[in-house]
Amino acid sequence: MNHFAYRDGELWCEDVPLRAIAVAVGTPVYVYSTATLERHLEVFKAAFAPREVAVAFAVKANGNIAVIATLARRGAGADTVSAGEIKRALAAGVAPSKIVFSGVGKTADELAFALASGVGQINVESAAELYLLEAQAAQLGVKPAVALRVNPAIGAGGHDKITTGGAETKFGVSRAEALSLYAYADASDHLDAIGLAVHIGSQIQDLTPLENAFRTLKSMARDLRAAGHKLTHLDLGGGLGVPYFDQPAPPSPAAYAEMINAMFADFEIALSFEPGRMIAANGGVLIAQVIRMQHRPERDILVLDAAMNDLIRPAMYDAFHDIWPVRESDATRAPMDVVGPVCETADTFARARALAPLAAGDLVAFMSAGAYGATMSSMYNARALAPEVLVRGDRFEIVRRRFAIEDQIALERLPGWINT
Ligand code: LLP
Repeated sequence: MNHFAYRDGELWCEDVPLRAIAVAVGTPVYVYSTATLERHLEVFKAAFAPREVAVAFAVKANGNIAVIATLARRGAGADTVSAGEIKRALAAGVAPSKIVFSGVGKTADELAFALASGVGQINVESAAELYLLEAQAAQLGVKPAVALRVNPAIGAGGHDKITTGGAETKFGVSRAEALSLYAYADASDHLDAIGLAVHIGSQIQDLTPLENAFRTLKSMARDLRAAGHKLTHLDLGGGLGVPYFDQPAPPSPAAYAEMINAMFADFEIALSFEPGRMIAANGGVLIAQVIRMQHRPERDILVLDAAMNDLIRPAMYDAFHDIWPVRESDATRAPMDVVGPVCETADTFARARALAPLAAGDLVAFMSAGAYGATMSSMYNARALAPEVLVRGDRFEIVRRRFAIEDQIALERLPGWINT
C-alpha cells in the first residue's frame, strides 16, 4: 500500500497535491512519501513477529539522507556498498553499529574507513578481501564483525542485469570456499566471525530460489557449528520484488516471512535483511511535465521534460513504470510512445502505452520510482540532477535541491594552455 492517490481528480502524495510541489520546485522532481516508507518498513518487520529481525535499508536504492533518516528513526540500519554510502548513512544519523558494509570491490581505503567508523558488520566477498581486512584490523587494533557472503549458485531476479546469485556472477564465495574461509576468520585474533550472508538478486518474483538459497545457508551454518565454530548471524539480503503494476504480484512480505520463520523455527540464530526496493520503490514518484505531443501517423509521441538521465530503469532493464496523469482523466486512452529529450533512442520510457490525451504543460507521475531512481540518475546531455522532495502529512520539504548546470560547470576549469 502506498500514499499516492487521486482526490477530486488530482493526484496527491499524502495530504499534498503533487501539482503544488511541481509548481513550487519545478520539474522533473522526485517526491517521496514518509508514511509509505515507514509503512513498508513496519510491514516488513511485523511480518516476522514474534521473531525480531534487523533491517538494514539498502542505501543504493535511495541514498537521500532524509530517506535514510526517516527509516533510521523507525529502527532501520543501513546496508552500504561504498565509503560514500557509509558517509551518507552516518550523515543521516544511523548508528555505526547498524551499518553493514557489503560489496565486491571494497578498496583498502574503504575498509580502513569502515573500520575507523566502527561499522557493525562487514560482509566479505573473497579470500583476498578477508586477508586485507584482517591486516587492516590488526593495524588499527580493532576486531570487526565479519560475515562471509556466500554465492549459493542460485540466481533470481527481474532481469539478467540484476541477478547476483548465479555461480557465474562476481558475487560472494562458493560454498566450499566459504567453509574454509569461515574457519580461518573464526581462528583469527583480528576478526570476529559472526555469520554468513547471501543476496541472490533483485525484484525476485518467486519464493523458491530464495528458499533454496536460505536452506543452503542454514545447512552451512549447521555444519560450521558442528565443526565447533561460533556462528550467531545470518544476513539474508534483500531482493523481494514489488508490484510494478504490469507484473503479477510478487510474494507478499507475509509469505516471505512465513517461509523464513518456518525454516528457522528449529534453529536458534539472529536474522538480518537488506531490503531496498521493497521499502522505497512504491514510496516515491518522479513528476514530469509534458513538453509537447508530437502527432505522427503511426503513433503519437509524448515528449516529457524527464529523461533517461533522471530515471534510467526503462532504458537499462526494460523496466515498466506506470505513468499516471497528475490530473485524472476518463477520456479514451490511446497508445503513445513516451520519451524524454535526450538524444538517443534509449531515452524511451514506454512504447505504445495507453494514456488519456495530454498536452503541453500537463503533469505526469512515474510511479514506483522511489528505488533506483534518483540514485541512478546522471547529468547526461548536461541536464540538471532532479531535486528530491519529502512529504510528511500536509508538509513537504526539498531534501535535495536541483543540481543545476551552473553547479556542474563550477566544478570544471579550463587548463592553463587554453588561455595562453
Ligand atoms: N543487498 C545487496 C548485497 C544487494 O546487492 C542489493 C541490491 C540489495 C541488498 C537490495 O536489493 P533489493 O531489496 O533492492 O532488491 N538497479 C537495479 C537493482 C540493482 C540491485 C542491486 N543489488 C534496478 O533498478 O532494478
